[in-house]
Amino acid sequence: CGIVGYIGTREAFPVLLNGLKKLEYRGYDSAGVALLNGSLEVFKKAGKVSDLERFAGTQNISGDTGIGHTRWATHGEPSDKNAHPHLSANRIFSVVHNGIIENYARLKTDLEKHKFSFRSETDTEVLANLMEYFYMQSDEVTAEMAVQLALSKVVGAYGIAVLCSREKDKLIVARKGSPLVVGLGKNEYFVASDASPIAEFTSHVVYLNDYDMAVLQKNNFTLKNIENKPVSVTISNLDMQIGELDKNGFEHFMLKEIFEQPQTIEDTFKGRLKPEYSDIVLGGLHHVFPRIAKAGRIVIIGCGTSWHAALIAEYLLEDFAQIPVEVEYASEFRYRKPLLNKNDVVILISQSGETADTLAALRLAREKGALVLGICNVVGSTLSRETEAGVYTHAGVEIGVASTKAFTAQVTVLTLFTLKLAKTRGTISDEEYSLLVKELAEIPKKGRAILENNEKIRQVAEKYKDAVNALYLGRGTLFPVAMEGALKLKEISYIHAEGYAAGEMKHGPIALVDDNLPVVVVAPQDAWYEKIISNIQEVKARKGNVIAIVTEGDTGLKELTDDVIEIPRSHPALAPLLAVIPLQLLAYHIAVLRGCNVDQPRNLAKSVTVE
Ligand code: G6P
Repeated sequence: CGIVGYIGTREAFPVLLNGLKKLEYRGYDSAGVALLNGSLEVFKKAGKVSDLERFAGTQNISGDTGIGHTRWATHGEPSDKNAHPHLSANRIFSVVHNGIIENYARLKTDLEKHKFSFRSETDTEVLANLMEYFYMQSDEVTAEMAVQLALSKVVGAYGIAVLCSREKDKLIVARKGSPLVVGLGKNEYFVASDASPIAEFTSHVVYLNDYDMAVLQKNNFTLKNIENKPVSVTISNLDMQIGELDKNGFEHFMLKEIFEQPQTIEDTFKGRLKPEYSDIVLGGLHHVFPRIAKAGRIVIIGCGTSWHAALIAEYLLEDFAQIPVEVEYASEFRYRKPLLNKNDVVILISQSGETADTLAALRLAREKGALVLGICNVVGSTLSRETEAGVYTHAGVEIGVASTKAFTAQVTVLTLFTLKLAKTRGTISDEEYSLLVKELAEIPKKGRAILENNEKIRQVAEKYKDAVNALYLGRGTLFPVAMEGALKLKEISYIHAEGYAAGEMKHGPIALVDDNLPVVVVAPQDAWYEKIISNIQEVKARKGNVIAIVTEGDTGLKELTDDVIEIPRSHPALAPLLAVIPLQLLAYHIAVLRGCNVDQPRNLAKSVTVE
């Protein structure tokens, strides 16, 4: 979900609405704002931010202090009444909230005993009422204290922004587990769950840490923790290009981001390759690199697309750096009893740096004494702040919910990391190292060549847009790429799709093959080429439709398959960076042809800050 807040000298509503539009990629099933203007007024609607905007057009909305929210439902279906902000029973507090209050049911029962009634099914309303309950206990209790008292009773995660109708000069925010950032203006403050809505107003921000609470007044900013102890303020500089938030003439953010990849891949390795490719510089890891090189094992953790990048790294690291690697879903790792020790290196991969499960895995790994590193796209995110060291992916802001350019940037960083580690450990020959680094520098050019096939890929998409199921196959590093291709298709077109290791097809998925099933096979001319041709034969023998991703000029496969999409030849270790591009485009075009909302697919959110 997305949170915004404003206190200052402007009309708050346009600032909040603009911010909500920028945050809409984080959740978009309902939206709302609360404004202080004599009284505390709430306007909220199920649906998109544009629905809220239309509704607000018919209302008298003014005030120079306000909070807003765009929601991804956890407790309670998307509806007007479950939308945020929530009001307390006597309209004293209004709250917007990201995260989950785990003990909300018990708190609700207690409040009901004190004659509080509820309008919604949300845990957030419980929080608003809890604040009101404490506020009403005595005249001595201030809004700030009521917030602190309420939070002291809460089990769970939150990022909140709060208004109090009896203390109209304040906006109160607090966090535990869900990100919040405060933008510092002149006689005004901006609040948001990530920096994108703030960038156009100020470049000075304060990222809240867990248990931090800030009280904002037009010309005063106080940072403390929820136990009322002072906290020192660190002001960070925001380095965000406002242009990154435009579609730049593309029909969708996702398409724009797919097309940005040659540039973002280059941005990710540029400056990290020394002249003549003599060395790779990963500045953020410099001080811990000797420890990494001696590690007994590397464990890589992520969710969704980031987990696929981790799987590719497992192949690369074991092959070139000869170090044992394990890859885990963050949501599993955090609840297992993983065996970790001080010789282990744990790498967390996350585009947003805010995924709740990934952060929980980070904290567990740190507790166990492992060296904890991050690969992350969002500068200043929780993950980047809580890991001991790390590498940024420099892909720029990614808005499309289905991750594309962040994935190729992650794979680029992991490739650089592998090569540097292999070189340090002496497990790669100088020739192979130079070859790989030179070839990496060629990838952007080859990526551009693939993007020139966009129209051809759209035509292939036309043929398969009505599919009900789809299978994606690959081998080696291209097996995770097949999974990523399948994930893209199911995320944005709602076609059921599975990615499989091609050799595993005969143990199950082959039962699905008939003349209706499209099977996308990633089949460049590499060490597994012959094997994958056999897999294609197996599909064709059962009348499946094969769409093959092939090496440029591979005429053999053209005859054997229904459709081919060519990619330039590359070193097999770098093939994932190229092979994934046509799969992204295929999913994109199929989704567009099916009339789906590509940038905001149903039920998904860009950054999942609940577990
Ligand atoms: C969500 C997004 C995915 C993303 C995953 C992990 O499910 O929809 O695109 O891959 O979270 O996000 P992270 O920010 O941790 O990489």
